[in-house]
Amino acid sequence: MSIERSAETNEAQIAVHWKEEEYVRSSAKFIGQANLVDPAITERFSEKNFPECFREYADMLSWDRYWHTTLDTSNPPFWKWFVGGKLNVCSNCVDRHLAQYGNKAAFIFVPEPEYEPVYTITYQELFTRVNEVAAVLRTFCGLEKGDRVTIHMPMIPELPITMLACARLGIIHSVVFGGFSGEAAGLRASDSGSRVMIYSDGYYRNGKIIDHKSSADIALEAAAKAGTKIEKVLVWRRHQGQDLSKKPMVQGRDYFMDEVLLNFKRAKVDAVSMDAEDPLFLMYTSGTTGQPKGCQHRTGGYLAYVAGTSKYYQDIHPEDVYWCMADIGWITGHSYIVYGPLALAGTSVLYEGVPNYPDAGRPWRIAEQLDVNIFHTSPTAIRMLRKAGPEEPKKYHYHFKHMTTVGEPIEPAAWRWYYDVVGKREAVIVDTWWQTENGGFLCTTKPALDPMKPGSAGPPALGIFPIIYDEEGKEVPAGSGRAGNICIRNPWPGIMQTVWGDSDRFVKQYYQKYCKNSKSTDWRDWPYFAADGAVLAADGYYRILGRVDDVINVAGHRLGTKEVESACLTVPEVAEAAVVPVIDEIRGRMPVVYISLKPGVEDVERVTEQIISTIETMIGKIARPKAVHTVPDLPKTRSGKIMRRVLAAISNAMDPGDVTTLANPDIVELIRRQVQGAGPVVLKEGPEDLKQFGANE
Ligand code: WT7
Repeated sequence: MSIERSAETNEAQIAVHWKEEEYVRSSAKFIGQANLVDPAITERFSEKNFPECFREYADMLSWDRYWHTTLDTSNPPFWKWFVGGKLNVCSNCVDRHLAQYGNKAAFIFVPEPEYEPVYTITYQELFTRVNEVAAVLRTFCGLEKGDRVTIHMPMIPELPITMLACARLGIIHSVVFGGFSGEAAGLRASDSGSRVMIYSDGYYRNGKIIDHKSSADIALEAAAKAGTKIEKVLVWRRHQGQDLSKKPMVQGRDYFMDEVLLNFKRAKVDAVSMDAEDPLFLMYTSGTTGQPKGCQHRTGGYLAYVAGTSKYYQDIHPEDVYWCMADIGWITGHSYIVYGPLALAGTSVLYEGVPNYPDAGRPWRIAEQLDVNIFHTSPTAIRMLRKAGPEEPKKYHYHFKHMTTVGEPIEPAAWRWYYDVVGKREAVIVDTWWQTENGGFLCTTKPALDPMKPGSAGPPALGIFPIIYDEEGKEVPAGSGRAGNICIRNPWPGIMQTVWGDSDRFVKQYYQKYCKNSKSTDWRDWPYFAADGAVLAADGYYRILGRVDDVINVAGHRLGTKEVESACLTVPEVAEAAVVPVIDEIRGRMPVVYISLKPGVEDVERVTEQIISTIETMIGKIARPKAVHTVPDLPKTRSGKIMRRVLAAISNAMDPGDVTTLANPDIVELIRRQVQGAGPVVLKEGPEDLKQFGANE
């Protein structure tokens, strides 16, 4: 069966394919100490025990009031979890550990400069600092439960401290990745209706001091243009008493946190008891349209899900030293640097800088110095460290028991290096598939129970029941070798509540496609559409191929092609723009920009530079394209739709298929020569199981 060809192309269509690998089993030593060793768990979390199985996760938390209904499905797809329950996330992550673990490290902060000392924040100190910040937010800023605050900060301990202070008061935080531009932060702040933004003056990255506070002025301007007045900017200083920013503070608007805090020394603020369904935070992510959407996560279900998955899949015990190298500005950092590990009284390492600064041995030196035994990173970082220093891990005396990979598919060769060299064949690996919308892991092996299979994420997580549908809504069976759209048949506690301020978009994006009956209040009629292509092997292991929508996963970070296109179109000389994904050896995928210029524009080089700098200011450096091709015209259908699929095929040396029905078929060969050179057509082997998507027929 073949699917109608669309004008678009997507990541899944250009997925790299590899053969099925043999199982790899975890060591007896790992199993001997693992949190999850009882195979009966699978039965406890079987479909017949859904949704009550998730009590097991919620019972890991301390509730102010126990819930009466585990799952309320009365208003699909707006599920409610642990209804009637009350709890506070901050007191679950901090206060409740004081008696037993007060003097244990909650965070270990590693500054990027190696001459700066590492320091530890104990649970006791965290409690003190979080309370003081909560007092500032409440008394100095007048914020209360339900208000939103946008935090645009780098990886310094004040970031999680500020998040926890928000959670203590029920203030909804929206953390924007520090590497995003001021403009991107301002638009997100405006969308969330924040009155306060929180910054740092600067930070260290790749050996340089980044002036971060300068983004605040741009953010406030962007927010104002979008109709939102930010009243206060709180600025954390990386070094007390110094100012790393060249931008002056604005009187009556900007405040140094260390100065404000002088009035709140050892202040204590009661944790506000929140309903399980009160929102905890927003996390903006890219989707199909130009506007990023604010994924709204709930209090009780989210914390239960990240606590449960951190315990069973990350295998975190209080005595472990756990290092997730992601940035807290992404969902991975929220769930698996801050909330999950802290809910379990774990010790979480925060590293300020880039992995290979000053050299590719840095992560392994950190691991050696701090006795890190659980390590968590992305395929892009693995590929980068492997390329820069394939033998480096061997020089350092650390021992990992457990390692995680997340964010993109990992090819078996990179997996092997991670396993053999980084993990020294001692560490178990989990390849965890999930998304910003999901709160926590959806597919992963259970580290002590399931064998690993390089290149496959593995079976569904406990209590998750996926299905692969074709475009017509028919199930693609296991072992068929065919790809389709992976969906989750059931709700789970970590799933987002809605898109902030746009419930229609939530329903349309995730549930409309495969909803069986929009009147039904039975969850079985509401599969969640993940927008990822996947193949299910006969053994029940899922291999994720990548996005099936207009999202490009660059180094594990989501980028909407429409966002990049809109940025290009703000350059006055640009007539038309199309952005497509191209395979990149290190970063997985990168955007490539195709543009046509308005008549009479000559200076292609200058326009190209302007396009790149516009993309960086409007979105951030992360969106920097791999190439910008200025072409005479873009390939179009007769109705004028740009055929991105053809452009992606050219950039990835794949067959563009039949182009004779285009309005301008000759342009295809012209562009091909421009991009691939004048030689013969180069084509890669078309991936057999992707025929479904119409990529290679
Ligand atoms: C997209 C979600 C939440 C994790 C960080 C990224 C891709 C994620 C895997 C994996 C293959 C993966 C998917 C997904 N992805 N993990 N283990 N194997 N692909 O979160 O920014 O929301 O991106 O990342 O395409 O849809 P995100």
